This record gives sequence, C-alpha cells and structure tokens, in this order.
Amino acid sequence: MSVSIKSPKQIELMREAGRLLALVHLELYKALKPGMSTWDVDQLGEKMIRDFGCIPNFKNYNGYPAAICVSVNDEVVHGIPSKHHILQEGDIVSLDCGLIYKGLHSDAARTWGIGEISPEAKRLISVTKTSFFEGIKLAKEGNHLFQISAAIQDYVEAHGYSVVRDLVGHGIGTHLHEDPQIPNFRQRGRGIRLQSGMTLAVEPMVNEGHYDVEWLDDDWTVVTRDGSLSAHYENTILVTPDGCEILTMMPGEEP
Ligand code: MF3
Ligand code: CO
Repeated sequence: MSVSIKSPKQIELMREAGRLLALVHLELYKALKPGMSTWDVDQLGEKMIRDFGCIPNFKNYNGYPAAICVSVNDEVVHGIPSKHHILQEGDIVSLDCGLIYKGLHSDAARTWGIGEISPEAKRLISVTKTSFFEGIKLAKEGNHLFQISAAIQDYVEAHGYSVVRDLVGHGIGTHLHEDPQIPNFRQRGRGIRLQSGMTLAVEPMVNEGHYDVEWLDDDWTVVTRDGSLSAHYENTILVTPDGCEILTMMPGEEP
C-alpha cells in the first residue's frame, strides 16, 4: 500500500476543491425543507458544482447515478436521489458530496434535520460530528492512523451508539478513493505513520442501534439492519506537522 504525499501545488488545489465543496454543502443546508424531493437536492448540488467549473466525482463512480448521496433516517450512506422520495418534517438527511477541481478531489458529508427533529436525533447528529473531531485530534505527523480510528469508536460507544464496520474513510487526492483505508473502529496494530502532506477523508458513520448494515435491492443504498437512525460526518483533511487542516469546513461552521 502506498500513500501519496501531495505537493505544495496539489495542496493549494485541494484547498480550493475543499472550499468550493463546503460552499455547496452550505447552500444545500439552506435549501433543505419539507416537501423537497431528494432528487431536488441532487439537482441543486450538481448545478452548483458545475457552475463552479468543477466535476461531480460521485456521478458515474462505479455506476452511481447522481452527484450527491442523499440518505434519509435509517439510510446510512449512498442513498440514490429520487423524485418520489419527499423529505418530511422530522426526517434526518445525510448529504454526501464531492467534486473535482483542476484534477484534485474533495469529499464531505453532513447530516441535517428537516424542520423540528427529535432530541434523540439531534443527539445522534451531534455525537457523530464530535466523534470526527475527537478522531482528528490525533491526525498529525508522527502519529499512527489507527489512533484516529480508536478515538472515533471510543467516543461514539461512550455515548451509547455504534460505528458502522462495513464502510470506511479513505485517502483522497488525484482520485476520490486512495490508500489508506480509514476505519472508524479499533484495529490490530497501529496503521501507517502519518506524514505531512497526506490528505484523508475521515468519515464516521454512526448508528443509533446496532452497527450492522445491509444493502437495498438498488445495490447502493446502505441501511441499518435494525432500522435505527444513522448519521454521517465527513471532511477532507490535510495532515500537517502539528495537527491537521480541515479543507471542507463550511463558512461559519463550528466544530
Ligand atoms: N462519499 C463516498 C465516500 O466517502 C463516496 C460515494 S461513492 C458513490 O467514499 F459512488 F456513491 F458516489
Ligand atoms: Co468519503
């Protein structure tokens, strides 16, 4: 397995890829409302990406038919946008999106509530987000990759939830998915030593109930096996000598 170190030029382009993607997420967040279809969300996101002169990297990836994965309630990830799936008050919706800017990729996900959501759903979303930040505290040169994995799992499980085992984060750069794989749960061994210039997509997927998931007949949509809610939070990050830089934070977004 070889993990690429990005050049200063590539890092500049990845910063821009990340900044533009964060703007897409902000616009999608502002647009979400009951009555909107998941297809509407995808259309809006794809248009914004193309208006930036970028390419939606998810579209046609292994045959995936849309620019954005829109996953509602017990859908974990890779929900396929549909005109027939209408967002309703009280739903939680995970938006996973990426783009290519001048050959460099970005990838980020957020889970939002539609209108007023239950306190339980709010807590799940907040624990998922915080688990990402607990994980990336360990993302710095000289640390080992699986320290991030363990920190995410520990935080999630301390709050009574579970982390999905069947899907993981990944390196990112000139491709959407590069080495290394980044599990959100403890591993044997330490994993690779982190170096400045590595760019990673860290993406905890957290279930309210059991971590088991299954695939729907569309061969894409991943759902919780027990039907419990699931949330997702992902950013593209750059490893630096004393920590990491998050390349896909939305303007005004707090950790
Ligand atoms: N964001 C997903 C990931 O983190 C990629 C989705 S692949 C697609 O790996 F095909 F569903 F678009
Ligand atoms: Co990803």
